[in-house]
Amino acid sequence: MRTMFVAGNWKMNKTIAETRELLSALKAGLNDLQGVERVVCPPFVSLAAAHELLAGTNIGLGAQNMHWEEKGAFTGEVSSGMLKELCGYVILGHSERRTYFGETDETVNKKLLAAQKAGLIPIVCVGETLAQYEAGQTAEVVSSQTRAGLQGVSAEFASQIVVAYEPVWAIGTGKASSAENAQGVHAVIRQVLTELFGAETAQAIRILYGGSVTATNAAEFFSQPDIDGALVGGASLKVDDFVGIVSQSQIAKGE
Ligand code: 13P
Repeated sequence: MRTMFVAGNWKMNKTIAETRELLSALKAGLNDLQGVERVVCPPFVSLAAAHELLAGTNIGLGAQNMHWEEKGAFTGEVSSGMLKELCGYVILGHSERRTYFGETDETVNKKLLAAQKAGLIPIVCVGETLAQYEAGQTAEVVSSQTRAGLQGVSAEFASQIVVAYEPVWAIGTGKASSAENAQGVHAVIRQVLTELFGAETAQAIRILYGGSVTATNAAEFFSQPDIDGALVGGASLKVDDFVGIVSQSQIAKGE
């Protein structure tokens, strides 16, 4: 049985002061909820403050990106070793990074291998654009992103990886995928993971849905057999919404 996993991707939101405020409220709101792995991913500059605030709590900390090299002349970049001092997770290959910052399956793979080396748990994002969705290419696109992104990863590490299916057309649009559609895509991803790493490892990997998840629609996603949680954008910035989503994940799996 996979432990449910809910992560908040704050994107480019919240100053350090605002981060402290939101985390204090989240700590109180999430304290009594058990059986769900929950992670927040604030911007880089807030990670140190968040690390201090979250010490001793059951809320994990993640970054939103990193570079694949360990150090060197890469102005503006952050390495796995720098993150490892502060957090346990890192989002890789988010569609906004693919769209606006030239992220490719190849760079996602390099970063994933760097995360493996550093012992950071990656949340690897895949998902099709609206044009690809309308052309019926979803299965093909997410399969190839998954294969290319996870190339060369050990089965032992693979079992710890978290995959997030985020259809680009559902991100920030208020138009979430139907739970049935998402379940179908998650089943495709799990099949690819089975081919790559074997059934036992594939069954252990959490696959999250992301794209306009709210406290209202979360339960429907979480009741699907291959949906193991959510990667939440906008709703992760509001205490009640994020706490609501985490608590839905408890109810959905009968905790
Ligand atoms: P929204 O929840 O705002 O649609 O964003 C989803 C997302 O991109 C999380 O990584």
